[in-house]
Amino acid sequence: MSGLNKDGGLTAPADGKSLAGFRRALLGWYEAHRRDLPWRGTRDPYRIWLSEIMLQQTRVAAVLGHYRVFLERFPDVATLAAAREDAVLAAWSGLGYYRRARMLHHCAREIVGRHGGAFPESADAWRELPGIGRYTAAAIASIAFGEPVAVVDGNVERVLKRIYASGLPPQQCWTRAEELISHKRPGDFNQAMMELGATVCLPAGPRCPVCPVQKWCGTRADAVRELARPAKVATAGARRTGERRNGRGAGAPARRQREIWCALDERHGRVRLVKRARDASIMAGMWELPEWTTAPHTANGNALWRTFRHSITVTDYTVHVMRDAGGRAAARRGRWMALDEIQQLPITGLTRKILKAGGII
Ligand code: ADE
Repeated sequence: MSGLNKDGGLTAPADGKSLAGFRRALLGWYEAHRRDLPWRGTRDPYRIWLSEIMLQQTRVAAVLGHYRVFLERFPDVATLAAAREDAVLAAWSGLGYYRRARMLHHCAREIVGRHGGAFPESADAWRELPGIGRYTAAAIASIAFGEPVAVVDGNVERVLKRIYASGLPPQQCWTRAEELISHKRPGDFNQAMMELGATVCLPAGPRCPVCPVQKWCGTRADAVRELARPAKVATAGARRTGERRNGRGAGAPARRQREIWCALDERHGRVRLVKRARDASIMAGMWELPEWTTAPHTANGNALWRTFRHSITVTDYTVHVMRDAGGRAAARRGRWMALDEIQQLPITGLTRKILKAGGII
């Protein structure tokens, strides 16, 4: 595992001295180069928990605005627990993967109802909560409470595989990460590993010359060759998190193309919306414009207004919107909703996009 690399430097840190140097180099780099993100510089478990849930399957840039708005609406766990589910989904609108919002809400109710509002302090105790897995439990426990438990997300997995120059199976990644973690600064160490993967040890173009731990990396000299190799199928971990999220990029599952039509009918300050089934596989219970999977007859007063592109998980939609079709396009489905009411409703990201483009919200 450890030894000298081709240039006479150390490879994969294993002995105590090498490990200490690795941690120092990584943490020093993190202090100097980390992005200034709103969930950094706090140890408030509520804020850290929220950030970790929002960052699952979603890029940092997409999370930033939602994080701020969500915290304004639900500043603490008691407010979140007391809220109606619809209000939580409305605040989540546009972030996608709405199951995360439901589980967050469910967890808040458990924390308040069963634990008197006190957050668990260890990763093991976090894992007892609904929907909290190994990664999320370790991230919160290390960052908020300083527990020395390692995290492995898609970014960390890639960093580890390169350092150890091997296709480590998932369990070995966790073992290696546990060996490497700093016991003095576990939260910073975990975030530094994620940050390294997100900004330096990139999937398709690793920036080895600026890497703080290149001295310990088993593949640094091979990076250029790796670039030339055909893309591999992504691991579950790499799909779950990492900077290339939402299933895009090399190794991502094949994308599907779909064409749909929907009606944007606005009258007297109201828009007709339809509620998705409570047991729908995605975006259950959310509101959207009435839609069809085949083209409506233009003879019925339906005129094409605009066409949008919209992606959900592995599907790319082409969405044709019929506007102001006199109610006929909507075929009397759904309900007329007042514009101020819509602001409080959990509407789908696509519906939000269309209403914004139409200057309605
Ligand atoms: N991805 C998930 N959590 C993160 C964090 N705390 N820092 C950087 N990237 C992350």
